[in-house]
Amino acid sequence: MNDSNSQGLTAPCLLEAVNLHKSYKTSKQVLNVLSGTHLKLKAGEMLGIIGASGVGKSTLLHVLGGLDRPESGKVLFQGEDICVKGNGYLENFRNQRVGFVFQFFNLLSDFTALENAMFPALIGRVEEKEARELAEQLLVQMGLKDRLQHKPGELSGGESQRVALARGLINKPGLLLADEPTGNLDNKASDSLIELIQSLNSELGQTVVVVTHSQRIASKMDRVMELSGGLINPVEKSLII
Ligand SMILES: Nc1ncnc2c1ncn2[C@@H]1O[C@H](COP(=O)(O)OP(=O)(O)OP(=O)(O)O)[C@@H](O)[C@H]1O
Ligand SMILES: [Mg+2]
Repeated sequence: MNDSNSQGLTAPCLLEAVNLHKSYKTSKQVLNVLSGTHLKLKAGEMLGIIGASGVGKSTLLHVLGGLDRPESGKVLFQGEDICVKGNGYLENFRNQRVGFVFQFFNLLSDFTALENAMFPALIGRVEEKEARELAEQLLVQMGLKDRLQHKPGELSGGESQRVALARGLINKPGLLLADEPTGNLDNKASDSLIELIQSLNSELGQTVVVVTHSQRIASKMDRVMELSGGLINPVEKSLII
């Protein structure tokens, strides 16, 4: 599909969010988080999403990745609306098409770094030996050669984040959604993690969305958008460098 629109895209669209609405209802209030959010993701691009704390960046990422459903609106993945699909389809979609790096890692505390990174491959019916080799290769690439047998409670925040990234990448998803993947890393470690994501992006043509508070990290993306007041708008990169 050739596409040209207000965001200046001219390449095929991998994912499109159309008029998303999402609110959280508590006993005291209704909090509107997404209020007609539109977003187009071009295949192979790296998009940075910035925005103040609590504005809804994680919520948006969860909706884009089929982890949460909007109240209304569509999430078109290669033209198909994932929001109308059943849970079984979404489980498979999340396992095979999307790699998710959670803001708070969501590692399983009783399992080692290696086992945590292997899980999506095992769920996707990859042979155990191959899953182990793939996970080990990714973890070594991330500088965790000596931490393979550590459980999450025996890892630092930055190490946990890298295990979460390895888990997100193991099935070589076409789309990587990373929520603050450098939030616990120093500048040097952040740069090497982003370089790793960039090299996967250029080698595998993976489409990447990175939510970040860091202007430095955002400036390394192809394109940056800011979520504010339930809407997402382009940010001129020269303004954030
Ligand atoms: N399950 C929930 N129930 C009620 N309110 C929620 C729920 N989850 C999130 N919220 C609220 O929705 C808003 C958006 O949350 P979200 O986690 O998406 O923000 P964020 O932009 O990712 O923030 P941060 O930058 O701090 O990670 C926040 O104000 C939060 O308090
Ligand atoms: Mg968040």
